[in-house]
Amino acid sequence: MPWLPAMTLLLAAPPAADRDAHSFAAPAAVRVTHIALALDVDFDRKQLRGTATLSVVRPDPAAPLTLDSRGLTITAVTAGGAAVPYTLGKADPLLGQALTVTLPAKADRVTVAYATGPEASALQWLTPAQTAGKKLPLLFTQSQAIDARSWVPCQDSPGVRVTYEAVVRTPPGLVAVMSAEALPPGPGGEFRFKLGQPVPSYLMALAVGDLRFRKLGPRTGVYAEPSVLAKAAAEFADVEEMMAAAEKLYGPYRWGRYDVLVMPPSFPFGGMENPRLTFASPTVLAGDKSLVALLAHELAHSWSGNLVSNATWRDFWLNEGFTVYLERRIMEAVYGKARADIEAVLGKRGLEKELATMPKADQVLHIDLTGRPPVDGLTDVPYEKGALFLTHLEAVYGRPKLDAFLAGYFKQFQFQSITTATFAAYLDEHLLKGDTALAAKANVKEWLYAPGLPADAPRPAAAKLVAVEEHARAFLAGTVKAAVIPAGEWSTQEWLHFLGQMPAGVGKEKLAELDAAFGLTKSGNSEVTFAWLMLTVPAGYAPADARLEAFLTEQGRRKFLKPLYEALMKTPAGAVRAKAIYARARPTYHPASAETIDAIVGR
Ligand code: BES
Ligand code: ZN
Repeated sequence: MPWLPAMTLLLAAPPAADRDAHSFAAPAAVRVTHIALALDVDFDRKQLRGTATLSVVRPDPAAPLTLDSRGLTITAVTAGGAAVPYTLGKADPLLGQALTVTLPAKADRVTVAYATGPEASALQWLTPAQTAGKKLPLLFTQSQAIDARSWVPCQDSPGVRVTYEAVVRTPPGLVAVMSAEALPPGPGGEFRFKLGQPVPSYLMALAVGDLRFRKLGPRTGVYAEPSVLAKAAAEFADVEEMMAAAEKLYGPYRWGRYDVLVMPPSFPFGGMENPRLTFASPTVLAGDKSLVALLAHELAHSWSGNLVSNATWRDFWLNEGFTVYLERRIMEAVYGKARADIEAVLGKRGLEKELATMPKADQVLHIDLTGRPPVDGLTDVPYEKGALFLTHLEAVYGRPKLDAFLAGYFKQFQFQSITTATFAAYLDEHLLKGDTALAAKANVKEWLYAPGLPADAPRPAAAKLVAVEEHARAFLAGTVKAAVIPAGEWSTQEWLHFLGQMPAGVGKEKLAELDAAFGLTKSGNSEVTFAWLMLTVPAGYAPADARLEAFLTEQGRRKFLKPLYEALMKTPAGAVRAKAIYARARPTYHPASAETIDAIVGR
C-alpha cells in the first residue's frame, strides 16, 4: 500500500496483544535490569528522598530510557557523574507521568535523584497514634498493581523483572524491612537489603516502624509491632508445614527465607505476597487459625505470581487463579480434604453471586483492562474462576498428571513473566496434545476467553455445608427457631456459609433472632463480622450500627470497606451515615482504599 504510508504505519502498530496498557515503558528498546535505591525516610515531611540507580540493557542503542513515575519530584538525572537530559511527560490520571531519559552512547547505568509526593499512592504514613504501640510512627508501601512508580522511578510493568538492592536511612529506634534479604547494617546504622532473584516492580516493598521478629521455624518467622507479636506467632505457627507441603507439590522454594509481617489495621488488602516477606492484615488474626488460608495463599504466590508472573494485568488470573488452586492444595495437605472442600464451596458461591452482577466482558479470565485501572480486574473472576479452571483440568486429566504439569510449568517459566497466550501454548504442548478427546473436554478456549462459567465447571461439595444449608432453610421457613440451631460447634466457614444463605431481603426480625441466639454483632472474627454487616445494613438492623461504624473506622481492608459503603449508599439515610463515617475514617485509610471509597461516597 504505497499510498497513505503514515496512516498504514499507525494501523500496523500495536494493538500488540501482549503490550502492557498500564506502563509507559518500552522495554523492548531499553530495559531496566537492576535497581539500587538509597533512600531517606522522612516522617516529618512524609517523604522518601534519595536516588534510584538503574542498570539498563539497550537492544536499541538510539532509544531513550522510558520510566513510569507518579507524583515524583525529580531533582537530577545523571550518568557517569554527568547530568543527562530528561523530560517528565504530561500527567495521566491513570498512569502518572512518563520519565524519558536521553542516554549517552554506551551508558548502562543512570541515577535518578528524586523525592516522593505528598499523596504517593503506594505509601501510608501512620502517626504514632495510628499504631498498636502508639509511640513511634510507621510507614509501609503497597506497590501492586501500578503504584511502585509513586515511590521508585521504574519500568512499572509486571513484564519487566529486576533484581534490587537498597540502603534505607530511618530515624533512630525504627526498624526497616523489605521484600529482600537483610544485609548487615551500613556504617551509619543504615538498613541494607538485596534481592538477587529478578522480580516485577510490583513486588518491591518497604515497611518502617517499631517492628520485632520472632522465629517460627528454620526458614520462617514473623515480624510485628511488639504487642501483636505473640498473637501473630500463634496464628501462623503452621507456616513451616505449609511450606513443606507446597515444596512437595511444586518444587523447591526459591527465595531463601519466608517471613510474615503483620501490618497495621489500615493495610488495604488481606495479604500481599512481597517476596521473602508477606505483608498480612491483622484482620486475619482470628485467634483460632480459622483464616490461615490467607497465609497459604500468599505463600503459594512464591510459585504462582512471584516465580512465574503475569506479564500484564490482563493476565492477572495467571497469578491469582493458580494461587487460589495452590492455596487449596496446601490447605488440603495441612488441614485435610474436608477443610479444603469447604473453602472451595465458599469460593464458588462467592463467584456465582458476583458473576450475576457483572457485565459479560468482565467475566472473562483474559479480561480487557485498557484505559481502566488494574483494580477493576480485582474480582472473584481471576481468583475463583481461575482456580475452578485448574480444578477442571485436574478432573479431566487426573491429579498426578496435573501436578506434574504444574511442577513442570513453574520450572519452565521460573523468574519469567508470561501472557495468557504463552500459558495456553505451553498447556497445549504439555497436557492437551496427543489426545483430542480429552483436549475437547478440557474446553480451554471457553474457559479462557468466554464470559460466565462453562457448563462443565467443577461442583465442589462439602457435607458440613449441606447440613448448614438445611438449618438455614428451616430457620428461614420459620420451622425452627435460631436458638435451637446446633451452631455451637460451627467453624468460621460454616458461619460464613450460613450467613451466605440468607436472602438479600432478610428482615431485621430474623437478624434480631440470630443475634440474640449467637451474638453475631459481637463476633471478633473479621470475615464473620463482614458477612453479618452485609446483612444488617440493607435490613436496617439498628443494634449493629455501632459495630458497623467501628468496623469501618478500625480497619482499612478494601474488600471489606467497598461492599459496606456501597450497601450504605443505596438509601438516603445510609448515604448520610456513610458520608459522616467516611469523613472521619478517610484520613486513616491507605490511598488504595481511599481512592476506591472516594468513587463510592465522594470526597
Ligand atoms: N496479590 C493480592 C493482593 C492484590 C491484588 C493487591 C491486586 C493489589 C492488587 C493478594 O495475594 C491477595 O489476593 N490477597 C487477598 C487474599 C486472598 C486470600 C484471596 C486479599 O487481600 O483479600
Ligand atoms: Zn493473591
